[in-house]
Amino acid sequence: MKRTLITSALPYANGYIHLGHISGAYLPADIYARFLRISGNEVLYVCGSDEHGVAITISAEKEKVSPQEIVDKYHYANKEAFEKFGMTFNVYSRTSLPLHHETAREFFSDFLKKGYLIEKEEEQFYDSFANMFLPDRYVEGVCPNCAYDKARGDQCDSCGAYYDQLELKNPISIVSGKTPEVRKTVHWYFEFNKFQEYLEKFIEDKKGIWKDNVIAQTQSWLKAGLQERAVTRDMTWGVPLSGIPGVNEENAKGKVLYVWFDAVFGYISFTKIWAEKNNKDWKNWWQDEETRYLAFIGKDNIVFHALLFPAYLYGKGNYILPNNVPANEFLNLEGEKFSKSRNWSIDLKDFYIDFAEPQYNDVLRYTLAMNMPETKDADFTWKDFQQRNNNELAAIFGNFVNRSLQFIHKNFDGKVPELSNKYKDLYFDWQKISNSENADFSKEFIEKYSQNDYDVILSLKKGIDKSIELFNRFRFRDALTEIMNVARAANKYFNDEEPWKKIKTDREYAAKTLFVCVQLVRSLAILFAPITPYTSSKIASILNINIYTGESISETNEQNYWKNSFIPDLEQNHIINDTVILFAKIEDEIIAKQVDKLGDKQSNKIENDEDLIDINDFQKIKLKTAKILSAEKVKKSKKLLKLQVEISDSTRQILAGIAEHYEPEYLVGKTIVVVSNLKPAKLMGEESQGMMLAANHDGKLCFVTTEQDMPSGAEVK
Ligand code: MF3
Ligand code: ZN
Repeated sequence: MKRTLITSALPYANGYIHLGHISGAYLPADIYARFLRISGNEVLYVCGSDEHGVAITISAEKEKVSPQEIVDKYHYANKEAFEKFGMTFNVYSRTSLPLHHETAREFFSDFLKKGYLIEKEEEQFYDSFANMFLPDRYVEGVCPNCAYDKARGDQCDSCGAYYDQLELKNPISIVSGKTPEVRKTVHWYFEFNKFQEYLEKFIEDKKGIWKDNVIAQTQSWLKAGLQERAVTRDMTWGVPLSGIPGVNEENAKGKVLYVWFDAVFGYISFTKIWAEKNNKDWKNWWQDEETRYLAFIGKDNIVFHALLFPAYLYGKGNYILPNNVPANEFLNLEGEKFSKSRNWSIDLKDFYIDFAEPQYNDVLRYTLAMNMPETKDADFTWKDFQQRNNNELAAIFGNFVNRSLQFIHKNFDGKVPELSNKYKDLYFDWQKISNSENADFSKEFIEKYSQNDYDVILSLKKGIDKSIELFNRFRFRDALTEIMNVARAANKYFNDEEPWKKIKTDREYAAKTLFVCVQLVRSLAILFAPITPYTSSKIASILNINIYTGESISETNEQNYWKNSFIPDLEQNHIINDTVILFAKIEDEIIAKQVDKLGDKQSNKIENDEDLIDINDFQKIKLKTAKILSAEKVKKSKKLLKLQVEISDSTRQILAGIAEHYEPEYLVGKTIVVVSNLKPAKLMGEESQGMMLAANHDGKLCFVTTEQDMPSGAEVK
């Protein structure tokens, strides 16, 4: 029995987990972890929040709260959503904890000692308006590789390239919106190049084993030649450099570890946290050659997990390296990229608003698993969600379970039917069926029972064996298809055996059929457990037995329940509880309502919760009616009109960008609405003492007015 360590990329604690994240790095890992545990393997599944870096500080600035508040908010929200989804992490921790800082600093100190880190003065973008260096996402510009114009300082979201920020074209500081200067600053560089040869060999050995996309990306990096990489940043949020043994204190001031240098060590520090709590030895998981390590990630994380992390682990010495880095491609939503800003996204927590019953969680898991972006980008659609539920889970799996158990209640007193003398050997003969052809045995079996019996039991055998092989090659969709095919075969078996007819003419035969059916119900509950764990538990309680669905446990289960799902384990006369519908049909209206929520439509939630303001914010803005006394064009400006307006007893000058839409004469005498407490500003040399409201759409512009005539100075609320 092998020990398997599984990690999923640590999500940044700066936003809610959405379905795209889930299908990339979390669901596959969870399915695999459950599968292994059910198969009797020792598994440790580690994950948690990535709480450092510019992703966090920028979100904090946007939401106008401290970075700590940001990470607290999203860490707990994501942890809860993951739990609801049925993720079986053994530990879900956070990189802001002291033990994590200590672990990352220990690696840094060790690399200093070994000479893998060098201190260098290098040029960096500096925002002289904000008085700060601009790490990573604080600058945006044009990608040097693909010319995408919203590329970030360290990475391009469009083509995935990583580069030095000085290579960005047309850089803009996101803090001031201005072009940054280039200034010198000291940083520590990891000598990645020293690991070139070692990593070439490491990757070479994985050819044919790792996924093609992972091999291709790592090889293109190796081919280009590995470069030194800065692993420190000028900022205060993160793992501080100051105080690390061997660090030059003078230069360390105001600097922290680069988030990608600290986050990957989270896998180790979280293991330590788990071990401490459970009285275990973390070293069994990281420093024992017998342990197999799998790092599940999305494709944007490949280089960090397939090259950099291995270099760190090897550089430190005495650590195991990933045996595999199964990276998924991306999931789209209704044919388009996920985008929170365009409201083209489904946050996991929002899914539960309309689909609160746990069976829907299983439908979601199943749909996402069937559409996993394993080898190419995939698409989640609500229609598919509906069809997977109605045509597969309900019509095949659920239907088979339901009709079998109902039949047993109606005709066999709610007990596993007894096998008559004629069929009494079925329990043993069943277990002799195998994939390898044995013509004599098959013939005998078919004569004794039926062709249908033989076929369905063989399908079960094949489903179990093939799913094992496919799971171990990380071919989850195919594994799942095999499992659904077992349900399909079972459903067909019920049809072909026609027990509703036989019960009238040959009760013993019908008893045999239902004996087989109820055993298959149990087998299916085990095989579906990694994908639809809630449903499997429900079936277990209907069958009045225990079924292990692979949740994290501290003691290892010694049995291979996966293989044993082949054995007809329910005893004759075992009492079965009343059955319930496992998957209800999902109607078109439900689906239409979900589709309608996507995109920037009126019917949507008006804004993201984070963008909502409270009434006090609104009351700061004083809106008043004003009467236009005169209007004229501003010299040298195509857009501006200069208005003199009356607000009760006073007159004010307001500049408005409406010259391309209104003739000055038309405006005189009209009632408009203005922001009356706006700080005065100068435009084209003229003072403007307020702002006029206008509606703007697709190039058309109309000023806002009152529905009936009102005196000037009336408050607008
Ligand atoms: N937070 C990163 C992301 O969301 C992933 C970090 S994985 C880790 O892309 F290993 F570095 F933690
Ligand atoms: Zn690019």
